[in-house]
Amino acid sequence: MQNILITGAKGQLGTDCLEIFNDIPEISGIDLPEVDLSDRFQCLELLDRLKPDAIINCAAYTAVDACETDPTCWKANRDLPSHLAEWTEKNDAFLVHVSTDYVFSGDKPLFQSLVETDEPNPISEYGKSKLAGELAIAEQTDRYAILRTAWLYGAHGNNFLKTMLRLTLQNPDRAFNVVNDQYGSPTWSMTLARQIRAIAEQRATGIFHASSEGYGTWYELASAFLEALNVPHHFVPCSSDEFPTPTKRPVNSILENAHAKALGINVFRGWQDELNQFVDRHGDSVIEEVKAL
Ligand SMILES: NC(=O)c1ccc[n+]([C@@H]2O[C@H](COP(=O)([O-])OP(=O)(O)OC[C@H]3O[C@@H](n4cnc5c(N)ncnc54)[C@H](OP(=O)(O)O)[C@@H]3O)[C@@H](O)[C@H]2O)c1
Repeated sequence: MQNILITGAKGQLGTDCLEIFNDIPEISGIDLPEVDLSDRFQCLELLDRLKPDAIINCAAYTAVDACETDPTCWKANRDLPSHLAEWTEKNDAFLVHVSTDYVFSGDKPLFQSLVETDEPNPISEYGKSKLAGELAIAEQTDRYAILRTAWLYGAHGNNFLKTMLRLTLQNPDRAFNVVNDQYGSPTWSMTLARQIRAIAEQRATGIFHASSEGYGTWYELASAFLEALNVPHHFVPCSSDEFPTPTKRPVNSILENAHAKALGINVFRGWQDELNQFVDRHGDSVIEEVKAL
């Protein structure tokens, strides 16, 4: 790889990808508002100018609940990767695209993990738009890797962990209900960026599940994070029915990185180890950031 483009470069994952790929001779990061990559003309014009040999697509419309009522999510989640795939195929490039556990319904019996050959069946507009993005890529090129990740957190931008920390610091005497009947694999965006690099370097193609090992609930994740930070907290486990959201979430979102393991390039460790490493590196700055809000 001599020349790469990272899209969504100001986002949670995009920022970490810029760090992980920073030794590549030519590296460009692009995001809104500079270029709207869901606009085919703007997208192809940018690619013709930069001529990357690899594109790492971290751009997406990620506000899951907003997707239910905002059809523009289809532009970022389906049209944008479709334009990238069109250019990739015509220019002998390689496209790494990031997708989601929400392409699955979550109906697989607990605690069987989801492998790449399981049939997607999204139950949310977000999941449907992301699956449409996957399909649009596969229809146009074979020169792609799609990484489905889950429950992403990182140092940059907003995420569930920062929300739970902010709520706790702002309301130290209050108890918060946290959902304890959805299961997933919490994943640090920095480790995902390393997995992306391992796959891009080999130009390994196809669909890859890409999340930390093991699984937990949102309640377990929030509790583990605040405990690692040594921040007193009062979380109460609750059911999904007790915590209604505009979007139905999958009950079983446990991904198994079967494809990467078969190729010997799985970089993920247990989610608790990853979380502790995240706290060691970023805990203080995350607390400062959240306190300043
Ligand atoms: N976050 C999670 O828990 C999670 C879980 C599973 C999978 N994923 C997937 O992981 C990937 C990275 O997620 P993330 O958390 O890093 O997302 P993020 O922080 O929301 O970053 C996405 C970036 O893409 C940009 N973008 C959106 N539409 C664009 C467009 N038309 N042209 C150019 N840039 C555009 C966004 O800009 P604006 O902010 O200005 O809109 C944002 O900077 C996504 O594909 C997401 O679907 C995330």
